[in-house]
Amino acid sequence: MLFDSFNRKIKDLRVSVTDRCNFRCFYCDPDPAPCTSSDPNLLTFDEIHFLCDVFVSLGIEKIRLTGGEPMVRKGLDLLVAELSSLKRRGLQELAMITNGSNFASKAALLRSSGLDRVTLSLDSLKPGTFRSITGSDKLSNVLDSIEAARSAGYPYIKVNAVIVRGRNDDEIVDLARFARGSNLTVRFIEFMPLDSGRIWDRKHLVPATEIRETINSAFPIVLINPFRRGETAWRYRFADGTGGEIGLIASVTNAFCGECSRIRLTADGQVRTCLFSTEEYDVRGLLRSGGSRSEVTELIRFAVARKKFGHTIGSSTFKNPSRSMSSIGG
Ligand code: 5AD
Ligand code: SF4
Repeated sequence: MLFDSFNRKIKDLRVSVTDRCNFRCFYCDPDPAPCTSSDPNLLTFDEIHFLCDVFVSLGIEKIRLTGGEPMVRKGLDLLVAELSSLKRRGLQELAMITNGSNFASKAALLRSSGLDRVTLSLDSLKPGTFRSITGSDKLSNVLDSIEAARSAGYPYIKVNAVIVRGRNDDEIVDLARFARGSNLTVRFIEFMPLDSGRIWDRKHLVPATEIRETINSAFPIVLINPFRRGETAWRYRFADGTGGEIGLIASVTNAFCGECSRIRLTADGQVRTCLFSTEEYDVRGLLRSGGSRSEVTELIRFAVARKKFGHTIGSSTFKNPSRSMSSIGG
């Protein structure tokens, strides 16, 4: 088992399979170069499988594939199938987060390859706003992907919307309506200082309390999980019993660090213990210099033991992380 120095059990692993993305969301701003699997810095599928196997043997229960945009990595279904085999060794869930631009045609294949759950990003239902936020015209592809996820039978589909003052805060009610009556959860996320362009400023932040009040005055909502525990989101159902769920992720104003159970593996094989870490642990280097399984295990334990309590956004000691969201893995 993996416990950090605050006695938190580490059981969720986020694996970034590429730091590249075909979108240019302004709050993330990834490297525009295309993903090439021949990039020597990128972990190979075999390396990812090996490392995930080690992580699962250490008690990791859930793996989420992220990017960048994971679908730009060729042959992702093969990686999903390999990782899915870890369910025989204790893995309970294999999930993925995608921008939805290329997911529709692969939804069923990925599901049959062993992907259990999917989260899609959708910040706006208006083509113009969608384009201004993501730099892409693929709103209809994302909507098709959400439908494809439903048809392929993924349970508890989640849709993430990062809310930014003056960009899409006028769509909070529309996005909540999108969740209503569906089997979807729409999660509203506070904008975090993880953009490579460093444009983040507190004035762009729409606090989760304000998002909640805006939704509540249109459609009354009831908190489902008053204790939140290790969950990132406060979860709400609609008071009138209509289906669908709302999630509020107060990553800045009411962080969930205290019960964090997460660890991250970047596409270039660095272990990070927090989105906002300024330290990384080079498992790729260790693997490629012939490190043994027990040495890799030790490095992971060493990293976890040094996991910091939480981030300090807003305080004078806060330092921007060394990477943006796209190269950390969301
Ligand atoms: N602040 C908040 N959320 C972000 N994401 C990407 N960058 C940021 C940011 N600066 C979200 C994306 C996606 C997930 C991987 O992380 O919207 O849903
Ligand atoms: Fe791509 Fe996701 Fe970053 Fe948007 S937030 S640019 S979809 S990696």
